[in-house]
Amino acid sequence: RKPLIPFEEIGAEKLSELIDQFYSKVAVHPDLYPIFPDDLAETARKQKQFQTQYLGGPNLYTEEHGHPMMKARHNPFPITPARADAWLSCMAEAMDDVGLEGNLRDIYYKRLVLTARHMVNRNGEGN
Ligand code: HEM
Repeated sequence: RKPLIPFEEIGAEKLSELIDQFYSKVAVHPDLYPIFPDDLAETARKQKQFQTQYLGGPNLYTEEHGHPMMKARHNPFPITPARADAWLSCMAEAMDDVGLEGNLRDIYYKRLVLTARHMVNRNGEGN
């Protein structure tokens, strides 16, 4: 059996659909839209590049933007535990929408939970 590379299992097309669905939810989520740009096209483009490499595909994000340094890149934005939960709920709904299921979904989602928690940089009590 060939090695499991999540990016190859999902495929570029479905990953692109997933990210588009995800940002359509972010755009209307009351906890999230205030900290995002009004036009999410460029954000989605970068996120597709990032998720491609996060899932073991080609390093598209790094090739264009340099080292990801995701925690540092998120520091300007106030990310509370509630916003991390909101981000993950948008992603879970997007996974439902594109029919991402089973073991692959579980592994991917669990990784995103850890990364989302790592992005938390405010405690939600005024700092
Ligand atoms: C960019 C919020 C979690 C990957 C951003 C931006 C915001 C944001 C406000 C800036 C958008 C822009 O100006 O274009 C959040 C919140 C999160 C979260 C509230 C909740 C925990 C994550 C996670 C990942 C991620 C878990 C990766 C697995 C990215 C990427 C960018 C980005 C790749 C684009 C960076 C760039 O401008 O080059 N995020 N994020 N984020 N986020 Fe997140």
